[in-house]
Amino acid sequence: AGTAPSASAGPRIVTDVAHRGASGYAPENTLAAIDEANEHNATTAEVDVQRSSDGALVVIHDTTLERTTDVEEVYPDRDPYDVADFTLGELRELDAGSWFDGEYADEPIPTLEEVLDRMDQNGLNLLLEIKSPSLYPGIESDIADTIRDNPQWLAPGGGEAHRLVIQSFDWESVERSSDELPQIPHGLLGEVPEDEIADYAAWADQINPNHTGLDADYVDAVHDAGLEVFPYTLNDAESMRSVIGMGADGIISDYPDIAREVIEDE
Ligand code: G3P
Ligand code: CA
Repeated sequence: AGTAPSASAGPRIVTDVAHRGASGYAPENTLAAIDEANEHNATTAEVDVQRSSDGALVVIHDTTLERTTDVEEVYPDRDPYDVADFTLGELRELDAGSWFDGEYADEPIPTLEEVLDRMDQNGLNLLLEIKSPSLYPGIESDIADTIRDNPQWLAPGGGEAHRLVIQSFDWESVERSSDELPQIPHGLLGEVPEDEIADYAAWADQINPNHTGLDADYVDAVHDAGLEVFPYTLNDAESMRSVIGMGADGIISDYPDIAREVIEDE
């Protein structure tokens, strides 16, 4: 586990995170959404990683392809459309942009490697979610190999920011990833029961719950254990101000420019 700088003494830093890239402005989890995050002055972008049938790490949210691609047109006989059943070459035939807007026609499903490269070019930090890891045994070590091949992602971020944080709703997967990459921070998505937070603090650095139902007492309990809190997904200024008032360390939003304005006004 890395350190949790915002939870320690010093000036308060609140990090803005563009959810699935700036997914309010461009098709989620594409290079276009990464570029939009950069253009809307985000410091960090969140994306979701899964694995193709031939072992490539690909960036996509759903475990099936219908919602965000034209898979039913391209492969009419391949139902069910699980990401895990398609090779990288097959996935690359899909249009992952038109569902959002015709302007993004032929935007591909990117590989993790491509996302890392584009974020490097843009100077963005990365919050990487391992999506449904029970479908992809060993994906934590595949991700760790990719990060080790791109060692700039193991360096600390600028100032108080984290260069890379890995998170998942599957806390056993997060622990495996933390064993692989102990030098970087790891986050638990969801709400860890208050009486269990201290146990997870041995290797976790963040607890990242849905903002609905979050309260200041819970944020205090997480901070007391030395961890940070990055709630998701907040898309209006009022709810962003509310979680900042509770002490949240980050805001995950489809509209990173709104988050940035609220953070700078606080
Ligand atoms: O980073 C938090 C958020 O991404 C978790 O939910 O469903 O958008 O992946 P989801
Ligand atoms: Ca996610």
